[in-house]
Amino acid sequence: MYKELIDRLERQQALSFEEYLTLIKNREEVRGYAAERAFAVRQKHYGNAVFIRGLIEISSYCKNDCYYCGLRASNKNAQRYRLTAEEIITCAENGYALGFRTFVLQGGEDGYYTDELLCGVIREIKARFPDCAVTLSLGERSTESYRLLKEAGADRYLLRHETANEAHYRRLHPPALSYENRQRCINDLKALGYQVGVGFMVGSPFQTDEDLANELLYLKKIQPQMVGIGPFIPHGDTPFKDFESGSAELTVFLLSLIRLTLPRVLLPATTALGTVDPIGREKGIMAGANVLMPNLSPAGVRKKYMIYDNKICTGDEAAQCIECLKGRVAKTGCEIVTDKGDYRNEL
Ligand code: SAM
Ligand code: SF4
Ligand code: FES
Repeated sequence: MYKELIDRLERQQALSFEEYLTLIKNREEVRGYAAERAFAVRQKHYGNAVFIRGLIEISSYCKNDCYYCGLRASNKNAQRYRLTAEEIITCAENGYALGFRTFVLQGGEDGYYTDELLCGVIREIKARFPDCAVTLSLGERSTESYRLLKEAGADRYLLRHETANEAHYRRLHPPALSYENRQRCINDLKALGYQVGVGFMVGSPFQTDEDLANELLYLKKIQPQMVGIGPFIPHGDTPFKDFESGSAELTVFLLSLIRLTLPRVLLPATTALGTVDPIGREKGIMAGANVLMPNLSPAGVRKKYMIYDNKICTGDEAAQCIECLKGRVAKTGCEIVTDKGDYRNEL
């Protein structure tokens, strides 16, 4: 009966809320089969390719106060840094030499990064590396700002919706942040023609199985090109310090369901998954993920971008991570490719 639901998903038949919930509640029995089918679907659309995105963590300053994040403004113990335009471009240069063809500029919401500064950086990267994609992950900005950044050449934007349940959203964020504005941003990004990534944390405080079933319906409705999910991991200097981490098993199972629901989606096996389980990223790839996002930030600042405790790879150089990942990916029967790795529309 559970396998039948997986088969229906693979045939691209929509599941109801109750059917997704049944799968989530009985995941122990069906996760092997779900992973096998999700791997096959991934293989059908993208072959053996695993795409790499070079993550450049441009700033650890943030004006927001999300209850779960170590970079939140109220965390007085956080070490803050920001990269200059030149430093960001140097990171991209190093990444290009290592085979990266997508650069992801991520950071806290930091007013230092005006539209003017960011547009200059984007134009420079696109001029120097015309065969590369620029992805931004800089949080909520105005419609006008998103428009200017797109015009400057940004291709993609990652903005996790965090939760599709408005009441849950309010329990994860202070009143200054609203579900409504997050959704406004996602709609703007789609309307402006960005390839858009949404996503959520698995096992975030107060999340229920019902919420997860809703997440899958939400993703089906939004039809994003990318979905970023990873386990919630507590950070000792946040209000959520005493909550448990989300589990690798549940994250991996949800990766399979996402792959089956959105067959062509670009789906990272995240660093957070590799943090809660030493072979979490490999398990993610075996269950349908096809993207890895190693860190290209300068070694000197890596330990300062601490969104959660015990983050892996903060002491390693990008080149070391790439070698390490090549070996890990080879064990899954897949292969890291030097490719922009755009979303593949219907052939
Ligand atoms: N400031 C931007 C934003 O919030 O969209 C981008 C950077 S933010 C650090 C990127 C993502 O990290 C968030 O969307 C959130 O899902 C994730 N994150 C934050 N705190 C986390 C935690 N404690 N455990 C796992 N993921 C976390
Ligand atoms: Fe800032 Fe993003 Fe962290 Fe929220 S999740 S505190 S917006 S860096
Ligand atoms: Fe960074 Fe293994 S991926 S050291």
